Amino acid sequence: MPIKLINFEIKGDERGKLIALEENKNIPFEIKRVYYIYGTESGVRRGFHSHKKIEQVLICTSGSCKILLDDGHSKENIELNSPHQGLIITKDIWHEMYDFSPNCVLTVLANQHYDESDYIRNYADFLAYISQNK
Ligand code: TYD
Repeated sequence: MPIKLINFEIKGDERGKLIALEENKNIPFEIKRVYYIYGTESGVRRGFHSHKKIEQVLICTSGSCKILLDDGHSKENIELNSPHQGLIITKDIWHEMYDFSPNCVLTVLANQHYDESDYIRNYADFLAYISQNK
């Protein structure tokens, strides 16, 4: 499974760094929602779902965390530890987030509003859904 990473251009100068995120430019969709996960307790693993339509870009704007990606055929693990890197998670990818550093802020941009009916939260249902929708 190819891991889809975006390297954001850093607008750095002698004062420090700045990154701008723009829909349909360096973010490959219309940005309908932004949320962030922070203050994650040590040892917590979260996510455990796939989406039917929602696509997202995950950016570890502070600290680090790891992401498990699973397309039903193969699994990949990736560490996000840089505010200038974005991980694209398309629909039909089971994902879990873990090993959050205490200072981790995981910022997520999504192409749709929050919609619980877009989630598949059971792994067996995920495998059945992707085999039906091939
Ligand atoms: P949840 O889906 O359990 O988080 P994760 O998949 O990262 O483990 O979300 C936690 C709560 O936040 C849950 O009650 C749903 C709610 N929520 C929203 O209201 N809006 C959102 O955009 C998201 C992502 C979650």
